[in-house]
Amino acid sequence: MLILGLESSCDETAAALVTGDRRVLAHRLLGQEAAHAPFGGVVPEIAARAHVEALEPLVRAALDESGVTLAQVDAIAATAGPGLIGGVMVGLVTGKALAHAAGKPLIAVNHLEGHALSPRLSDPDLTFPYLLLLVSGGHCQLLLVEGVGRYRRLATTIDDAAGEAFDKTAKLLGLGFPGGPAVERAAAAGNAGAVPLPRPLKGSAEPHFSFAGLKAAVARVAGQHPPEDIAASFQQAVVDCLVDRTAQALTRAGEVTALVVAGGVAANRAVRTAIEALAAAHGLRCVAPPLWLCTDNAAMIAWAGAERFAAGLTDPLDMAARARWPLDPAAEAVRGAGVKA
Ligand code: KG4
Ligand code: ZN
Repeated sequence: MLILGLESSCDETAAALVTGDRRVLAHRLLGQEAAHAPFGGVVPEIAARAHVEALEPLVRAALDESGVTLAQVDAIAATAGPGLIGGVMVGLVTGKALAHAAGKPLIAVNHLEGHALSPRLSDPDLTFPYLLLLVSGGHCQLLLVEGVGRYRRLATTIDDAAGEAFDKTAKLLGLGFPGGPAVERAAAAGNAGAVPLPRPLKGSAEPHFSFAGLKAAVARVAGQHPPEDIAASFQQAVVDCLVDRTAQALTRAGEVTALVVAGGVAANRAVRTAIEALAAAHGLRCVAPPLWLCTDNAAMIAWAGAERFAAGLTDPLDMAARARWPLDPAAEAVRGAGVKA
């Protein structure tokens, strides 16, 4: 089985070819950091235009690199949401056009499902069910992954996502964009015990995450301590919250085969190390995809497509792009959800 995957939901344009037996034949990615850096964040209109320009050449390059033609591909998987709607539409329409032209099935992939199944691309031994900490720029959730298309959300953020907190902290400290890696670099030179910062919802009986109060606290102390100390203290506060909330979810998750961390923030060394320690303390295997598979990419979309295709799941060509698309539609809305702090 050979799947072409397309990703364009935020600020990375990507195309990849992945086989059903987990071989990544090609993965091409073009980031847009330089285009958005002057604005200190992703500008949706700039992103959509950049996806239009980048996607087709990336598809061509991925096909050339793997030495296959569109006719040899079994299906085309494209991110259909959630994300910045202009970019999602570019990728989905491109996927539909390629599927129609080549007479191949379309698989409309939920970007979060891409992250959720990505650890099964890098780890052939990872079986369902597993507890997933999904930490990215737009999301912070704990999901019980029971099977392909079967996700139970155990927790989500009531305000900001963890990656968003990293990005805002970087901005407040003048560390530049994108923020996560910049904060991690600064933190390496700082003292994590130097600046007292809150751990929102740590120890709370309610299941969710919250990062808005931490961000506000960083805003109050910015300029009063060396940025490295604030970065290190902030990173430690995020890690403490992630570990506490994940430990709490483990008490409700039932039997799981592994503790898994994925999404852009899973590229953070301190986060990975802390989740590994938590898994070990619970006698669980820890799985974290390689860094390139944690941040947005098309290999995870192609892989989710492969898993869905194997399960007989394809989508009609009139499938609509979706800005919002929960993985677990049955999960209750949380207080503050959708209200940006
Ligand atoms: O999964 P992703 O690439 O895109 C979304 O779907 O959101 O995640 C991007 C997020 C950004 O907020 C970025 O700052 C964060 O992941 N990130 C990191 C690191 N690398 C990326 N956060 C902390 N440490 C990192 N090394
Ligand atoms: Zn993502």
